[in-house]
Amino acid sequence: MDQVVSLNIEDQIATLTIEREKALNALNADALSQLREHISDLNGRSFEEVRAVVLRGAGDKAFVAGADIKLMQQSSEAELRSFIKLGQDVMNSLEAMPLPVIAAVQGFAIGGGMELALAADIIIASTKAKFGQAETNLGLIPGFGGTQRLMLRSGMGTAKTLIFGADTISAQEAHRLHIVDYIAEPEELDRKVSQVVSNLTTKGPLAVAAAKRAIQQPYKDGLMLGLEKEVDEFIGLFQFKDTQEGLSAFIEKRKANFRGE
Ligand code: CAA
Repeated sequence: MDQVVSLNIEDQIATLTIEREKALNALNADALSQLREHISDLNGRSFEEVRAVVLRGAGDKAFVAGADIKLMQQSSEAELRSFIKLGQDVMNSLEAMPLPVIAAVQGFAIGGGMELALAADIIIASTKAKFGQAETNLGLIPGFGGTQRLMLRSGMGTAKTLIFGADTISAQEAHRLHIVDYIAEPEELDRKVSQVVSNLTTKGPLAVAAAKRAIQQPYKDGLMLGLEKEVDEFIGLFQFKDTQEGLSAFIEKRKANFRGE
């Protein structure tokens, strides 16, 4: 298995970096499995060792440009189901961590990349970052929790507008829509992340964990039901020619021609 996610712990802050820069850090099965392993490792550590987690994408261009489209196009239905479930599992595990999770978004956070950011507690973005649930461009829907978590963060109208239209929006627009919590100029992003995260590390870690559980509790059951529906709808779309057309069009670098069949 290629090493595509690194973990670095310094001053009680764990940084998880997706390292597939050539594919704009797209999430393949290795990346998801390694994220899951690192989350489990971090969950086993004491608060003396770690107080917060920062998620990053390698390079300047992308945080994460989505689930790996090339991999999905080649997968059987069973492989797709287990890939999507793995992705959902990783996002759920991040949300369930007792530690606060901060997404530091410097570039594209598209599809599964936006969903990874949405699974974090706090999103801090560079003014150069771009967000979007681009899946309908591929004849798909979000599959890593975006249909649920975008709605929870920014309301049903915004979730429908962004998911139906597959719009790519600026960090400033995402901030206005309450998707992003802080924005900073690109050269100021690291300083802003460090300021927010260092502040969290001085608070009572048990209190932060308790607040996280309490804030999320009312949405838990509905979220789980929604996630199950999301997997079924996502997989269901693969029986249609439109989805094959959408995936092929991306790989062939052309515009998709959808016919509703
Ligand atoms: N999967 C696989 N490879 C990807 C990828 C992805 N999601 N996103 C980018 N890449 C690859 C490209 O194929 C390209 O590879 P080659 O050099 O081998 O051609 C390389 O990364 C660089 O990408 P581009 O040349 O496209 O870069 P760009 O600057 O022209 O465009 C971009 C940047 C607008 C982000 C564009 O790459 C893009 O639209 N990517 C796909 C975004 C997307 O649709 N994400 C949703 C995926 S589906 C999903 O995530 C489902 C889910 O919820 C589970």
